[in-house]
Amino acid sequence: MKQSGSTFSSIGFILATAGSAVGLGNVIRFPFVMGESGGGAFFAIYLLTILFIGASVMLTEMVIGYAGKAGAPSSMETLAMAGKQKWKMMGWVMSGSSNIIFSYYVILLAWIVGYIWLSLTGGLAHDTKEATVIFENIQTDMFSTFLFAGIILAGTFAIVARGITEGIEKLNLVLMPAILLIFLGMLIYAVTLDGFSEALAFMFHIDWSAVSTKVIISAVGMSFFTLSLGSAIVLAYSASLPKGTNLVKSIAYVVLLDTSIAIVSGLMIFSFVFTYGGSPSAGFGLVFITLGTMFANLGTLGHFFAVVFFMALLFAGITSAVSMIEPMLKSIHIRFTISRYKAGVYLAVPTALLSSIVILSLGGYFGAVNLMDKLDYLLSNVLLPLGGLTTTVFVGWFMDKHVVESTINGKLGVFFDLWYIMVKYIAPVLLFIVMLSLLGLI
Ligand code: PHE
Repeated sequence: MKQSGSTFSSIGFILATAGSAVGLGNVIRFPFVMGESGGGAFFAIYLLTILFIGASVMLTEMVIGYAGKAGAPSSMETLAMAGKQKWKMMGWVMSGSSNIIFSYYVILLAWIVGYIWLSLTGGLAHDTKEATVIFENIQTDMFSTFLFAGIILAGTFAIVARGITEGIEKLNLVLMPAILLIFLGMLIYAVTLDGFSEALAFMFHIDWSAVSTKVIISAVGMSFFTLSLGSAIVLAYSASLPKGTNLVKSIAYVVLLDTSIAIVSGLMIFSFVFTYGGSPSAGFGLVFITLGTMFANLGTLGHFFAVVFFMALLFAGITSAVSMIEPMLKSIHIRFTISRYKAGVYLAVPTALLSSIVILSLGGYFGAVNLMDKLDYLLSNVLLPLGGLTTTVFVGWFMDKHVVESTINGKLGVFFDLWYIMVKYIAPVLLFIVMLSLLGLI
């Protein structure tokens, strides 16, 4: 069956890929990991990692998708010079990891909807103790989590099933400008706060003595998560690109947008923290508990800010959630020659099931097992680096170099050889070490 769903426009592709990259990782995870890892030193390493490893790995995914013109399994099978069946398998594994992320990401989105509701109804707590209780209640409130997660799941699957042009591209063309505008507004507000200069210093003052192997490893993990790498998303999106697209330029825009949003989120959150008193290393609760309390204490204006902020967070999360469905949906649609809608239904059922199990585990139905943490650990420490390892080894060793070169179409110029060495030798070794270290094996 010919692939339906059509193709992206170049701006649509950039916005959709940036939409995938910009998500809860930028706003929730990045500031809290940076807060815990001591600020500037982590940030500097993170930027270096994004530029050298992240961007290089992103290009490997684009090359495979753009040259293979299908989801990961079929693209890798077509392009592999040897071991076709094994690469096809790896393609399924990579695509499947996106759905695993989706299964718990959708729960975080459901909590954000809960926070939008609280902000609208004036229900945010005024002190962190009370806010912690509210946060715990939101996590264990089975009814609203199931309700909101169910609505978001149905909505995102429906959008992706509609296709690239009518579904994914249209959504991103509307939501991405909205997200950028809201973040710009928040940056302008943050600049006026007393704590802004302290936030700047916290993020941009580099204390090299704070750089440790642990900081480097967590920066690599973060760069993969934030750029949505290792889970065949960029690969699947690139399969729907029109001929003649400049892959390198697209990466530059995506990385720029993703990094800008991370910087603005960090500056905004730390400006708030340094202005109103709080700890940058408050962990996962930094956004929900610390920021939520600050908004509540700012009165009506604060509640307004809270609504706008959590809406931006929800939009950013939805554009990422949508991207997590595409790799598997596209692969099923092509492999089994069924329509995107059918593929969507087949995929939605196991995804919803997994998600339900995670929600129940948060409600204490499986004792003390928190499946969200377990899945996040599996993804960040095993599946995403493994996906990165897969695409770099594939492009470096198992794809015809001429095909790789013609796919990039001379756009890297003299840097092609450097990139190729990075992909063939350096990145795989680095990623392997990172994986072992993330698993605590070295
Ligand atoms: N990049 C997204 C974020 O920052 C999360 C994500 C990770 C999406 C991996 C897809 C794959 O929130």
